Amino acid sequence: TPNPRIPAPAALYGPERVNSAGLDLADPLTLAAIEAGRAPFAAPHRWDAGTGREVANPAVPGDVVGTVAETAPEAVAEAITRAAAAAPGWAATPVAQRGAVLQAVADAFEANMPELLALLAREAGKTLADGIAEIREAVDFLRYYANGAAAAEAGTRPRGVIACISPWNFPLAIFTGQIAAALATGNTVVAKPAEQTPLIAFRAVALMRGAGLPEDVLTLVQGAAGVGAALTSDPRLGGVCFTGSTEVARIIDRQLAKTAPEALFIAETGGLNAMIVDSTALPEQAVRDIVASAFQSAGQRCSALRVLYVQREVLPAITGMLKGAMDALSLGDPWALATDVGPVIDAEARQGIDAWVARMEAEGRLIHALPVPAQGCFTRPALVRVEGIGTLEREIFGPVLHIAPFAADRMDAVVAEVNASGYGLTMGLHTRIDGRVQDVVDAAHVGNLYVNRNQIGAVVGVQPFGGEGLSGTGPKAGGPNYLDAFRISTRATAAE
Ligand code: NAD
Ligand code: ALA
Repeated sequence: TPNPRIPAPAALYGPERVNSAGLDLADPLTLAAIEAGRAPFAAPHRWDAGTGREVANPAVPGDVVGTVAETAPEAVAEAITRAAAAAPGWAATPVAQRGAVLQAVADAFEANMPELLALLAREAGKTLADGIAEIREAVDFLRYYANGAAAAEAGTRPRGVIACISPWNFPLAIFTGQIAAALATGNTVVAKPAEQTPLIAFRAVALMRGAGLPEDVLTLVQGAAGVGAALTSDPRLGGVCFTGSTEVARIIDRQLAKTAPEALFIAETGGLNAMIVDSTALPEQAVRDIVASAFQSAGQRCSALRVLYVQREVLPAITGMLKGAMDALSLGDPWALATDVGPVIDAEARQGIDAWVARMEAEGRLIHALPVPAQGCFTRPALVRVEGIGTLEREIFGPVLHIAPFAADRMDAVVAEVNASGYGLTMGLHTRIDGRVQDVVDAAHVGNLYVNRNQIGAVVGVQPFGGEGLSGTGPKAGGPNYLDAFRISTRATAAE
């Protein structure tokens, strides 16, 4: 029975609306409806994707979310063979028909929102707000790429088989976005989700098939680096669409140079993202946006704020307010409606973050940290004093905010220091000096620069998302140039 508190897709997607409207979490009746919808999927519900490895809930020790059958690396070649055989038929399918299938998938994701929310919470530790935002983003990718594919057709052809390799931190949105772009443009896909989040991928693909996606047009392979390496070393690939760490992107880049040098390679990777707050910023607004940027999703966003530069004159006030705002955060089981910060993805991630915070504490840099539940993969949200971005040896992928002072006449030097890190994903700026905004826009080497707001949660079609330097190859996902990369010009061939 349709739930009256969750608007039907048709109401959300008239010609005047492009992005998913999501749900109003301030409305108690909507919250109650979500809760009732998720209830059938509460423990001990399991999402098995074949017998094999058990997938754990990062928040609740002992809660097995389901089991997954992993693909043997030797079987990956067979998946590529099937995708290659399906490629001519899918390429010849009219773009409007391909788009209609993706629109139907978007409808199916919205219609199954309670189950997807439950699975995002149980398998990936996503809070309710994060889960809703993630489903919206997946739906937006499907519709945006379905609508945009026709414009990329003229004088081009698909690349063939695209390997889509995705991370665990957006196990539905990025997994779906890569696939949607490749399929909308007439390619076939072999997709490998992160080993931490195989079940969400499995459910998403089941919904895709249910919405009419032909079997071999998309094949799911499951596993870790070995399966990924088997996939990216196949010379028949027309391209690799990868989102994950800079380290793995480098490995794939080297591999493709050897085995498929003509293949498309899109890599969207990590960042050492900074925010600059000067003495003209509105403190309450800045602190709200700092907390969201650093601690939402337990800091497990590539876009998340890692290094906060605060003008020296306002550092004591901002630090004091930040500590207070951190104390107001509610940590715990993401299944609970009140939770702001859930777990990190697994014990390995927790240990790495804990070790970094312990080192910062030993060096006398820890300003503030929150207590966390004793059970589960929780790590202390922490505020750490540093001299600048140079203290970070790598991306710390968790709820750790590093704070550094800067002198009033050193704004240019701060931007140069951030540029020198080589990463260039997001940057935030809080100021009320217009000329300063333009100076930072001109000088900063980042993909996404946000002014007087938080620096996370890019909206498909509104804020195309992607970095430069060590943070990514471009083109930006959810932007007007993305789909062009998935097709090859046939004009040169015709002229020859
Ligand atoms: P990861 O690089 O460890 O893994 C990403 C994917 O690559 C997984 O599916 C993994 O199994 C696969 N993989 C690992 N080794 C491989 C190999 N040798 N060959 C082929 N595939 C291989 O990243 P992660 O831990 O899953 O995700 C977190 C990282 O992703 C962070 O660095 C984050 O900044 C980044 N990220 C970037 C964006 C962006 O849009 N720029 C978005 C989300 C996450
Ligand atoms: N696109 C995601 C964000 O902007 C990663 O936070």
